[in-house]
Amino acid sequence: MRLSRLNSKLAVAKMAVFSLSVILLALSAFFLTFTLETLLYVLLFTAAIFLTDLIVIKASKDSRIRASSAIILTGIFLSTGKIQPPVIILSVSFGAFLSWVLLRENVLSLLIDNAKRVIAIAVAAFAIWLWFSLIGNNLFFSRISAAILAAAIYFAAETTIESLLVSLADGPAFKAAFSGKVRLSALVYFTFSVVALLMAMMFRWMDFWSILIFSLPLAVIGESFKLYLDINSTYAATIKALSTAVEAQDAKKEGHAERVTDYALAAGRQLGLYGKELDRLSYAAMLHDIGKLGFDRDNPTHAKVGAEIINQVDYLREVSPIIKYHHHNNGGKSDIPLESKLIYLADAYDHMVSDDKLARKDALNKIKADKGLVYDSRVARAFVKVMEGKSA
Ligand SMILES: [Fe+2]
Ligand SMILES: [Fe+2]
Repeated sequence: MRLSRLNSKLAVAKMAVFSLSVILLALSAFFLTFTLETLLYVLLFTAAIFLTDLIVIKASKDSRIRASSAIILTGIFLSTGKIQPPVIILSVSFGAFLSWVLLRENVLSLLIDNAKRVIAIAVAAFAIWLWFSLIGNNLFFSRISAAILAAAIYFAAETTIESLLVSLADGPAFKAAFSGKVRLSALVYFTFSVVALLMAMMFRWMDFWSILIFSLPLAVIGESFKLYLDINSTYAATIKALSTAVEAQDAKKEGHAERVTDYALAAGRQLGLYGKELDRLSYAAMLHDIGKLGFDRDNPTHAKVGAEIINQVDYLREVSPIIKYHHHNNGGKSDIPLESKLIYLADAYDHMVSDDKLARKDALNKIKADKGLVYDSRVARAFVKVMEGKSA
């Protein structure tokens, strides 16, 4: 029931985004001054956008960053001069059309992706226009500040629409989706904005050649970001494989690590953890029982063994102490890492619900009763709060 209500909301949101983009596209076609020059710009921008679009950086499951964002930003920066906003809006859409025809990309995700960008372009171009009409466009300061403003607004608009759709698709809450995307892609967008600023400045002397010339370094930058994010996803895949290996020893344990990770992350967010802290928590939770690998039955020293194994791996070294203490009764102790306390409680909860078949409500009552004795009070409070919210 809840799911279908969410999905219908998602469908409505997608339709709204799509319709808005169609309106903007129609307005663009209507207001474009058809001269040979503008048509040539549309053609050139379309080609540049399509070609740089070939570098698609996957920031996460639902989030893509395209290197062509830099070309689009250049167009927006120039939108009070030679390049009118309709030129960019039409070029982006033609670029998406080419991706569909030539690359056979999924038409629905292309339409939504394109809609997102069209709306973001319109909002950012409007912001520049407004800014210039407020403070004039003669000063160097006004041009630079307008560029910063436009880049920030373009990024914010795209991210807002994307996070909204992700959270409606039964993903994380809007705020979490938004900050997650910002964290992953702020640096990429910042770099693209700087390149775009250079392209726009050179445009005065070199006209479209500036875009062609800067496209190559842009492609290199895009490619390096892609490699960097690919490495991160390789880490995640390795960790998943290791935790599956532990669970493969015991059929009853299937899904345990993933559930513990979900619980621990939810409570961790509630406690205000973010960014790298959440990454660390999730790696530790996925691998908390790695010390059981190779032992027949529950091995009481598995926390220590696991910590030693993980300590050998360079990029996981910080996670080792968290694993070491994940079985310490931590009611009143303050010298135990917060992440260990979260995993301890998440692990206990999963045992109650999955192994002992306790009802969620009873398990939570047990945790409330043991708060401060077995479990850290603050952690237990946060945990109960999120879990009660989830089942409501
Ligand atoms: Fe354990
Ligand atoms: Fe466990």
